[in-house]
Amino acid sequence: MEAPANHVTPTVFANTIEQKLSLFADRVIVHKRPQSWIEGEQMGAFLSVSKGSEEPPIFLELHYKGSSDSAQPPLVLVGKGITFDSGGISLKPSSGMDAMRADMGGAATVCSAIVTAAALKIPINIIGLAPLCENMPSGKANKPGDVVRAKNGKTIQIDNTDAEGRLILADALCYAHSFKPRAIINAATLTGAMDVALGSAATGVFTNSDWLWERLHKASVVTGDRVWRMPLFQHYTKQVTDSALADLNNVGKYSRSGGACTAAAFLREFVSADHWAHLDIAGVMTNKDEIPYLRKGMSGRPTRTLVEFAAGLASDV
Ligand code: BES
Ligand code: MG
Ligand code: ZN
Repeated sequence: MEAPANHVTPTVFANTIEQKLSLFADRVIVHKRPQSWIEGEQMGAFLSVSKGSEEPPIFLELHYKGSSDSAQPPLVLVGKGITFDSGGISLKPSSGMDAMRADMGGAATVCSAIVTAAALKIPINIIGLAPLCENMPSGKANKPGDVVRAKNGKTIQIDNTDAEGRLILADALCYAHSFKPRAIINAATLTGAMDVALGSAATGVFTNSDWLWERLHKASVVTGDRVWRMPLFQHYTKQVTDSALADLNNVGKYSRSGGACTAAAFLREFVSADHWAHLDIAGVMTNKDEIPYLRKGMSGRPTRTLVEFAAGLASDV
């Protein structure tokens, strides 16, 4: 997360994770899906973001077989992998933009959790998915008002190109369902509004499952890397399904109000699984001096909680 975006491109990210997992080649398979594969999967929302950059996108797919029962339904972890978020045509202000090198924090924490699970031989099956690309302004970039089609056929009006995380996650969440998962958890530095809401005290968890909430919360009490539940009201859904040109709009109708909640409501439109949780980690992305045992800078939170959660699931079978 801390590394400069010119050093950690989507390609370098994928190669780094592949190399770390090469120690566990007996139980982990790594697929680095190229653009041609992403096109074949009809991930139109992800591709619309990646096409604004010169760096090729990668859809990283990790399979960790920890269970002796290879047919055991997997835990699917999905991470936002924007290796740099300039905002695109809806360009961010230059002050503080350097922090957007950490906009791959969702991908980093879920991939790290899988590396750790493999090292600890946690006896469950886990699949990791990370759509990796840059969000850049170019002659090919998304423009406000553009309409794209996600993998599940839903159309999206892109009124703000800076709300790119939900676009790449939409396609990744659709794909996650093809593994008949036990649960889907996604992590994303999704909204500045999450930082406004909770700051660095806790990761915001939006979930349709009381069971998943309880397991995540329990794990976070053990690790100290806290989570806090946030609402998934229809109230917010109405604000993202009201679009002149498409099924959905990528920003809420009252854009500043409840921004973390409208982003979660948007993601929910791509989920049919009974046990899904969205972790908005924008507020815990950096550590200034709040957490004394973490160094200053990009935090890697909540990797510990994800690992503890996975270990907890193992004792559940
Ligand atoms: N990556 C940002 C969110 C972010 C901001 C993470 C600050 C960490 C710190 C995300 O892609 C973004 O730009 N979100 C917009 C959404 C808005 C346009 C609806 C935001 O939060 O301003
Ligand atoms: Mg953005
Ligand atoms: Zn972003």
